[in-house]
Amino acid sequence: MKRAVFPGSFDPLTMGHLDIIERSLPLFDEIIIAVLNNPEKNPMFSPEERCAMIEEVLGSFDNKGCRLIVESFEGLLVDYVKSKDSYAILRGIRAVSDYEYELRMALMNRKLEPSIETVFLMAAEEYSYVSSRLLKQVFLLGGRVDGLVPELVEQRLRAKNGR
Ligand code: PNS
Repeated sequence: MKRAVFPGSFDPLTMGHLDIIERSLPLFDEIIIAVLNNPEKNPMFSPEERCAMIEEVLGSFDNKGCRLIVESFEGLLVDYVKSKDSYAILRGIRAVSDYEYELRMALMNRKLEPSIETVFLMAAEEYSYVSSRLLKQVFLLGGRVDGLVPELVEQRLRAKNGR
């Protein structure tokens, strides 16, 4: 049973995240999408809202036989991963600029728990510039984000911001 944890803020879920989930389906039997409960980052959506959105989007997703679970977590990621009986952290890399941040996290996590491996997948080129942070900025300034987030997420962005 190969189980991976795909952690992130997911504030909100983007097409880039979905692309990484899709790419990882043939590699694992089960993927836990782990939403960080991070009030200090002032997220636009609560962990419950983020989890519900992801679950709804994945409801109409062809999971190709891979079990997809959505949960929120807090505290150290490696502790959470161990508690789930998993040894793989899944992360996506969009561009070289992501590498340094990801390397530092992967090495710190390895130092904390050497038995856990971080697995990196390269994001699709068409989403290589898409981040939740930029997307929220563009949306809040009145720009269009269609095609960069699932339709349901766009609806939730509108509802949350009265548009
Ligand atoms: O989507 P993000 O914000 O880039 O995800 C970052 C995340 C959730 C992977 C990272 O912040 C994290 O693992 N936080 C949990 C706290 C922790 O374990 N910190 C030490 C890891 S270096």
